[in-house]
Amino acid sequence: MNKKGFIFDLDGVIVDTAKYHFLAWKKLANDLGIDFTEEENEQLKGVSRVKSLEKILAWGNKTLSEKEFKAQMAKKNEDYLGHIAKMDESEILPDVPRVLNCLSKNNQPISLGSASKNARTILERVNLKEKFNAIVDGNDVTKAKPDPEVFLIASKLLNVEPEDCIVFEDSVAGVEAANVANMTSIGIGSEDVLGHAKYVFKDFTEISEDFIEKLINE
Ligand code: G6P
Ligand code: MG
Repeated sequence: MNKKGFIFDLDGVIVDTAKYHFLAWKKLANDLGIDFTEEENEQLKGVSRVKSLEKILAWGNKTLSEKEFKAQMAKKNEDYLGHIAKMDESEILPDVPRVLNCLSKNNQPISLGSASKNARTILERVNLKEKFNAIVDGNDVTKAKPDPEVFLIASKLLNVEPEDCIVFEDSVAGVEAANVANMTSIGIGSEDVLGHAKYVFKDFTEISEDFIEKLINE
């Protein structure tokens, strides 16, 4: 049996935390007198905390002192942590466990590849940490998606060449990072947004065991 490396983004792929990031960013933006729409939020998916705040400030034509910038980032994270503290297994997105189990059953190594510094906390809360052979998150990288660094580290840890890695991503930046890394990108979400991925599925319920076997044996 072939060995491939399967890399999963976290927010919006394994768990529906994108809605909590949205709520926390919206609160911060509105408190600063900046409008914040769902379309703008789409552009923040997969983007690091620092880069996200920079973008919001640019949209609102605002600048902050370094001290105030740090304070706002801390406030956003505190707010976000308040949301994720209540999370449990019920917030795992549909059929994610089925796909993870299918990969394990086929002896395929699995890594997390997330920009979030809260990734380990979230995996623990939803009781999925044990499913991963490697975890790469926002604490392990210096360059944010669309830079491929996070996925290239995961490929090294799994000991699988980048071209044999398959990445599941819900963000524009993440799909781009996977493509730049020369990995097979699978978009989870809408074709309109993720058309640059090699394959796009609405969610994991659309991913069959046959398709997974095809990926392994390709
Ligand atoms: C993920 C999310 C982003 C978030 C980033 C950093 O990529 O999609 O919305 O900004 O992680 O998350 P953190 O938990 O470290 O603030
Ligand atoms: Mg994501």
